[in-house]
Amino acid sequence: MTQKIMIYGGSGGIGSATARLLHARGVDLHLVGWDEVRLGAIARELGATSTLGDVNDSSLFARAAEEAGAVLDGLVYAVGTINLRSLGRLTEADFLNDFRVNAMGAALAIQSALPALKKSEGKASVVLFSSVAALQGFSFHASISMAKGAVDGLTLSLAAELAPKIRVNAIAPSLTRTRLGESLLSNEQTSKAIAEMHALQRLGTPEDVAALAAFLLSPEADWITGQTISVDGGRSTLRTKG
Ligand SMILES: NC(=O)c1ccc[n+]([C@@H]2O[C@H](COP(=O)([O-])OP(=O)(O)OC[C@H]3O[C@@H](n4cnc5c(N)ncnc54)[C@H](OP(=O)(O)O)[C@@H]3O)[C@@H](O)[C@H]2O)c1
Repeated sequence: MTQKIMIYGGSGGIGSATARLLHARGVDLHLVGWDEVRLGAIARELGATSTLGDVNDSSLFARAAEEAGAVLDGLVYAVGTINLRSLGRLTEADFLNDFRVNAMGAALAIQSALPALKKSEGKASVVLFSSVAALQGFSFHASISMAKGAVDGLTLSLAAELAPKIRVNAIAPSLTRTRLGESLLSNEQTSKAIAEMHALQRLGTPEDVAALAAFLLSPEADWITGQTISVDGGRSTLRTKG
């Protein structure tokens, strides 16, 4: 039977690369995003259905679940923010926004999709997004690191609670070439310097990350749950100089 998968952030860099890979494998897609033009373009390209809305609006989740259909085999939450500032310059609103978009949105997306995920013929699979910044301490990352640490906790807790019917895993990328990292990537010298901090000497591409997402969503990952898996060129664990 054809798999049906819902992707929040389906018009983003990693979300759209995942959607294209799944489409090429014959998966039916429901995409969620908040930019009408970008979402419409990718939905048309892949023959996908879609829901438009902001994850800060709680009513989005029930609407997206309803429009995605009664049965879902997978859910991807690839929505994110980045707000790199020193602790002194971060406001309460900055912290709450990063938490809301990265962590709370993921929990509400899963909660609304739960009835449909439970109806999957096999095991359903949920893929969330953490970050290298939740595994290694980086200056100016307090807000995003805190929010992504919450995603890791959510992954563990829900993997236990929803087993054996639903698998829940997270991917922790290092800097990947998408709109999210644009502020860091727009300067060629900075990009090169960051790339050289990775054992594999380059930044990530959306396709590097999408390959793992598609695997985790497939029946081939049937015995993997409760994991946060890095796709990071070695950044979180390896030091090759000095
Ligand atoms: N790229 C990296 O270096 C990196 C590193 C670590 C973790 N991650 C994580 O990977 C995931 C995917 O990010 P990405 O790199 O693919 O970034 P991206 O291209 O910016 O995609 C993120 C998507 O989320 C959407 N979005 C942002 N705020 C939203 C909101 N309030 N409501 C609805 N949609 C919203 C964006 O909309 P627009 O289309 O309007 O931009 C975009 O489609 C995120 O969870 C991110 O935190 C990325």
